[in-house]
Amino acid sequence: MEIKTAEFVISNTDVKKCPGDGRPEYAFIGRSNVGKSSLINTLTNHKSLALTSSTPGKTQLINHFLINNEWYLVDLPGYGFAQRGKAGRESIRKIIDHYILYRDTLTCLFLLIDCRHEPRQIDLEFIEFLGENGIPFCIVFTKTDKISKSKLALNTTDYKNKLLETWEELPPVFFTSSLKKEGKEDILDYIDRINQGLNKA
Ligand code: GTP
Ligand code: MG
Repeated sequence: MEIKTAEFVISNTDVKKCPGDGRPEYAFIGRSNVGKSSLINTLTNHKSLALTSSTPGKTQLINHFLINNEWYLVDLPGYGFAQRGKAGRESIRKIIDHYILYRDTLTCLFLLIDCRHEPRQIDLEFIEFLGENGIPFCIVFTKTDKISKSKLALNTTDYKNKLLETWEELPPVFFTSSLKKEGKEDILDYIDRINQGLNKA
């Protein structure tokens, strides 16, 4: 799919204030610093449509970007940022959970996982939460430029095996590097296929 236009629309903390035009949307979630905002920039061919930082906790709001005047990409705050303190973590988590549970036009959530790390409890619990609430999601392994191909295969196989302990089947899985601009077409084609299905329905 070709991205012709990508425009920032609104930032807020309240799902009720998100755009009300009914266009389908695709949101990016995961631990702070995993690369959500960077991936949105990669997908849209922008350097800083979504704001990024090497320090975790950069994105603190729900950010809507209108793509091709047809659908939205949504950049969400990250979860589990230790330096934010318990109260800060809980308030961000509340924003995320409300958005995920009550946003009717959320069509698919992309859950980003740093490919360098072993499965972490906080991500596994988040996946459990998505399953319990029937939220459609994909897994995106990010920062693939940071490890060798063989290590990537090992880590992601471990991850999939861990998920298969509780899930009968795996969600779609993508591999991305925002540094090398890899994995972009796979994700955009996936979104395009869903959008085409919605248009026919
Ligand atoms: P929060 O908004 O804090 O939750 O973080 P985020 O998930 O939006 O991460 P962000 O996109 O801001 O990226 C965090 C850091 O990781 C930045 O320094 C990025 O340059 C870096 N980064 C993101 N994606 C990649 C990637 O694919 N490869 C490499 N090498 N670095 C990346
Ligand atoms: Mg961010």
